[in-house]
This record gives sequence, structure tokens and C-alpha cells, in this order.
Amino acid sequence: MGVINVEKSGRLEGVVQIGGSKNAVLPLLASTLLTDEPCVLGGVPALKDVDIMCRLLECFGAEVTEDRLAAQIRIHAKNIKTNIAPPDLVKAMRASIVAMGPLVARTGSVGVSLPGGCAIGERPIDLHIKGFRSLGAFVECEESEDGGGFVKAEAGRLVGAEIYLDFASVGATENIMMAAVLADGTTIIENPAQEPEIVDLANFLNKMGAKIRGAGTDVIRIEGVEKLHGAEHTVIPDRIEAATFMLAAAITGSNILVDNMLPNHVVPVIAKLRETGVYVREAFGGIEVDATRGMLKATDIKTLPYPGFPTDVQPQFMAFLTVVEGRSNIIETVFENRFMHIGELNKMNAGIVDNGRHALVPGGASLKGAKVRATDLRAGAALILAGLAAEGLTTVSDIYHVDRGYEGLTEKLSKLGARIRRSES
Ligand code: UD1
Repeated sequence: MGVINVEKSGRLEGVVQIGGSKNAVLPLLASTLLTDEPCVLGGVPALKDVDIMCRLLECFGAEVTEDRLAAQIRIHAKNIKTNIAPPDLVKAMRASIVAMGPLVARTGSVGVSLPGGCAIGERPIDLHIKGFRSLGAFVECEESEDGGGFVKAEAGRLVGAEIYLDFASVGATENIMMAAVLADGTTIIENPAQEPEIVDLANFLNKMGAKIRGAGTDVIRIEGVEKLHGAEHTVIPDRIEAATFMLAAAITGSNILVDNMLPNHVVPVIAKLRETGVYVREAFGGIEVDATRGMLKATDIKTLPYPGFPTDVQPQFMAFLTVVEGRSNIIETVFENRFMHIGELNKMNAGIVDNGRHALVPGGASLKGAKVRATDLRAGAALILAGLAAEGLTTVSDIYHVDRGYEGLTEKLSKLGARIRRSES
């Protein structure tokens, strides 16, 4: 199993190109199960999670052709040969759950083992189930001996319904949207997730012939149609990858250009960086992040569903705040257990106090290199960023988490001048 070695890196410089969004491409791939015609997705990042989703589509009977050089994938789900998702793939990636909506809508039946993936909290799927039941599906959950479970949904043609989400869950909104596009009648989702990935999915579904309005607002309205057709689409840039590079510049006191991104997708990250004194401006179609202009100061962060501060950037921002002068408070409201990186950052002398969902970062730390473990995807990124600012060598293990969601992270950082390399030992 490989590790990533990082050394204190001084100032980074240059331009980094952001790839396609992991969280957008996964439901987009799943949605191609809704039609028996071919679909083509462009701007697809080369990620482990994308591989897993492609294998899952193949298991269901889709023909998947990948053109890695062109960052393109063609999916043709002409016939669905099974609607039971293989447990190993679902356990490897929680996002597999978004295949449920398309399959129940197209074939009237689906079965999946309960999700795996990053161990960040309990992550129930009650809202997905509530959505399917509201649309007329019969949903059963069985517990398995290993503590996991199996969910089965069955329906004739789904029927449009009004669905209120108690929490603006990204996955539940995607699943319900994909199920409702082929339902009989109108579906209204109240309090849906408003993330850019939801808008991207709605845009693609509409290209396939769906009738979705309001994606990206607090009410989504879907008029069900009889059939969808094939379509082509380019995935939006990855706002979390973009934010990670913005923080790489901040923690190393650098000036870089983060290119091929949509600044309006990272508004809270820009606002919080500016509060610390980092200069951020839109430039040359991307974002210039300049942390070379003097002393930076502490700030507080509270994660919230979009357009609030993204939970997926909380660990990386925390890593940055460890080196800034002054105390910062970080409140995590989206996941109940997303502070596993604190123990690892503390091995590097960060001195963070973990109070459950509230973390106190004392700031002004002289980080020291250490052997640390990527406890989940974004935690891995945070530790790499901390390693860039720490004296000595930081060795990050369990980097398969990082490979799930970052395309060429070490290569892109090296190109900016970071002292980082992968080692297979
Ligand atoms: C997606 C993202 C993930 C991001 C998260 C929140 C993908 C592939 N992953 O995950 O990177 O961190 O959004 O922005 O897009 N919840 C329930 N019941 C449910 C569903 C969710 O209580 O049925 C809770 C979860 O336990 C969690 C919160 O809602 O506490 C957010 O989960 P959700 O928005 O569903 O996240 P994901 O779609 O899993």
C-alpha cells in the first residue's frame, strides 16, 4: 500500500488546472441507467470512485467505453440485466446508492446493500427511502449479520408526489430527482439540496428529455415523462478540488492561479479566506490566491449545506487555520463525526481541541512532520496541506482515500513546486 511523502515546501507558484467534479460525475453516470440510448460524458476525472461507478453500471448491464485521454465516457444501458447491486462495489463507495433512483424508475425494482465509503458518521439513508415511498415504491430494509443491511425497493410506475426533506441531503435529492423524472405526474421536492452538482444533474436530465425546474433553489418541480433519450454533457469543475488548491496556496503563503473553475461555486471559501487576510480575486478565467501580503489572522468556520461553507473543505481549512495567528472555532453541522483528522493533525503539533462537533484551533502552530493516516478523503488532503507547511517529513498513509477523489493531486502540487512524492513502500 503506497504512502505520500510531503516536505516543507516554501512558496508554490504557477497555475493549476482543476478537473471535473467527482460529486457531479457519480450521479451523472448513474442517471445514464434511465435510458436505453447511449450517453456521453466529457470532462470526467480519472478517479477510483469513477472506476467503481463504471463497474457498477457494467454489472447492471451497461456497456461502458472509457477514453481516458479525452476524459470521456460513453455509457449505453440498452438492457438492464440485473437490478441487484453487488455488495462489494456498494460497500467500496457510498455514492453507489444513487443508482437506486434510476433503477427503480426504469425497471420497477432495485436492491442494494447498505452503503460503505468514507467512515464519516453514521450516514443513514432514511431520506432516500422516504422519497421512494412517497413516489409509491414499496421499500423493505433487512439487517445482515455483519451489521450492514439490504434495501429493496419495488414499484410499478412511480407516481409524482410532494416530498419534504427534513435535511437538504445531496444524495437523497439526486435519487428522488432521478426516480421522479419517469414518474406519472408532478413531483415537488421541498428543502432539496441546492449544491451545484444538483444543478448539473438536472441540466443533464433535462438534456435527456426530463422536465425539471428549480434545481439550485429551495423547491424543485419535476413533471414526469414516459421516456428519456441519450444525451451528451460536460461535467462541471470540481469546486472541492479548487478549494483544496486555494488552501494549499494559503497554508504555504503563496500566490497561485487556480484555473478552470467556477468562482461562484466557492463563494464561502473565498469569503473565509479573505477574512483571514488572504487576497483572492477573479483573474484570467480562474482565481488568483495571494497569501504573500503579510500576516494572516484567525477566523471561525461553520459548515452548512450549500450555499453555506462546504463540509468537504472543513478539514483543509482547519489545517490552514493551525498555522495562522489567533484562535479559530470550527463547527461541523453536516456530519456528526467529521473530525477524525484532528487526532492526526495533533500528531503534527497542531494542538486542536476536539469538543465533538466544535473544534478549537489555537493557531500559530509550528507544525512538525509526522507519520499520519488519511482517515477519509478530505482528511487526507488536509494532512497533505499540513505537510507542506510542517518542518521535516510528513508521511501520509491510507492514501487510497485520496485517490478516490483527487485526480493527480501529487503531480499537480509538484508542478506548483511542492516537495511531494508518492512511494509504494
Ligand atoms: C454528498 C457528497 C459528500 C458531501 C456531502 C455533504 C457525493 C458523492 N458526496 O454526500 O462529499 O460531504 O454530500 O455536502 O456527492 N442524511 C440523513 N439521511 C439521509 C441522507 C443523509 O440523515 O437519508 C444526513 C447524513 O447522515 C449527513 C447529512 O445528511 O449527516 C448530509 O448527507 P448528504 O447530503 O446526503 O451527503 P451525501 O449525499 O452522502
